[in-house]
Amino acid sequence: MTKRSCSPRLTSRPEWKALQAHYRVMKRRTLRDLFAEDPGRGRRLVVDSPGLYLDYSKNLVTDETMQLLFRLAEACGVIESAGRMMAGDRINETENRAVLHTALRNRSNRPVMVDGQDVMPAVREVLDRMGAFARRIRTGEWKGHTGRRIRNVINIGIGGSDLGPAMACQALQGYADPALSVRFVSNVDGTHFLEQTRGLDPAETLFIVASKTFTTQETMTNAETARRWLLQALRDETAVARHFVAVSTNTDAVRKFGIDPANRFGFWDWVGGRYSLCSAIGLPVMVAIGPERFGEMLDGFHAMDRHFLETPVQRNLPVILGLLGVWYNNFFKAETTAVLPYSQALARFAAHLQQLDMESNGKSVDRAGRHVGWQTGPVVWGEPGTNGQHAFYQLIHQGSKMIPADFIGFCRLPETVGDHHDKLMANFLAQTEALAFGKPRTAVVAEGVKRALVPHKVFDGNHPTNTLLADCLDPATLGRLVALYEHKVFVQGVIWNVFSFDQWGVELGKVLAGRILEEIRDPARSLDAHDGSTAALLERYRAGK
Ligand code: F6P
Repeated sequence: MTKRSCSPRLTSRPEWKALQAHYRVMKRRTLRDLFAEDPGRGRRLVVDSPGLYLDYSKNLVTDETMQLLFRLAEACGVIESAGRMMAGDRINETENRAVLHTALRNRSNRPVMVDGQDVMPAVREVLDRMGAFARRIRTGEWKGHTGRRIRNVINIGIGGSDLGPAMACQALQGYADPALSVRFVSNVDGTHFLEQTRGLDPAETLFIVASKTFTTQETMTNAETARRWLLQALRDETAVARHFVAVSTNTDAVRKFGIDPANRFGFWDWVGGRYSLCSAIGLPVMVAIGPERFGEMLDGFHAMDRHFLETPVQRNLPVILGLLGVWYNNFFKAETTAVLPYSQALARFAAHLQQLDMESNGKSVDRAGRHVGWQTGPVVWGEPGTNGQHAFYQLIHQGSKMIPADFIGFCRLPETVGDHHDKLMANFLAQTEALAFGKPRTAVVAEGVKRALVPHKVFDGNHPTNTLLADCLDPATLGRLVALYEHKVFVQGVIWNVFSFDQWGVELGKVLAGRILEEIRDPARSLDAHDGSTAALLERYRAGK
């Protein structure tokens, strides 16, 4: 691993110290003052990029703050690092891998080299095979074992092999073929498999087993259960080949499962699970919306990749969002960040971002293996508006914690009814206004509110938000949005000096679960190796199951 100890520690950088001094001033400022002094900021602190408008004026920043943050990004070499990633350098050092999700959606003719080889022909070949397969399912040319048309497609995968495609299928349901039902099974809890297959006819059902490694316990358990479910009905082993396809890098394991290697869609070790939506992992999305629309989604991803690499930091969307996140996380000590899409179709967007962000930057050693002396990745959470308004917004408005939030809205949706969309967007706009400016005591008193109630009805405001207003929730815009957050996470990983593309923190639990499963299966096994709490719980489970 490259020694990086010569690079200055983040908190001793002069750019960091300048931000610390500036924070001492800014912590006393309010959004109300900032707008009163500078009403033009609502049109200046914005980025108007094709199809996507970011207003970041409702943040606790001034032009000076932004300049100091941009200097930090430059000092940390954010854009140079992005260039190295997109050029195929092995920046995932702990796994000795390149990180090239951007090659999956490289819509230019530019080659992308890994170890002296252009990966683009292989990327295009898999996309073409996915396209041909998706067309065969969509037209009914691909028949099940009994000659029936496939009407249900069930993706079996977990983490990055589930969250991205599940989120995208839901987001783009307005573009999906209504004759096909595309579903997802991820949890090893058998309830998930049962609820997703209830009432379905196995003869009309196709499973996509999506697993980079093809060893993940949850996915392989669900895949075996799916095979039994199919064979119980069709009673012929050869049916497996007509009802199962795989998305994996592990050719041997796919063959052993009984899946025809011709129906394996591959990808590469330089695609991280949570960054794999544009790889063959996106197959269920392509089946749902068709190869052309899938291509439009890739165009959107690619447009954001170019924007990130080529736009000066001052107008660079991922850089700005990343820096604002650092500002609140490291200076204001905000622990969490909310992502609030005003779109029911984006109901799983926050879940996808949770893996993307928290698995990437939930680290506490730096790239030289030393404990970081600063906060890294935040807790990411969120729900679609307006539902969140009737649940947890109370805490954002009047609670004791700072929760920076991203509001995501659309001028148009592919489908809606009556005046629902205007009502939705009225709420969208109202919330960021209320969060920023609140309702001062004087206004509450002027309304004649009883004295005792006044403190309860005051809104202090001063809650920072970003507003992302997109033209339409279409495949290209979804691609831009997801890529925006991928690169935001990248920016923060560079600044915090952590490795964003490994996930060692998920390993320990997997190993312990394997051992405990043996102990559950064999009650004679001693539990002495466990701590007192785990041993007692295990005994109770053994007795109670
Ligand atoms: O949770 C850990 C993880 O390795 C994720 O990074 C990954 O997306 C998920 O498991 C699924 O892995 P696989 O695609 O190999 O089944």
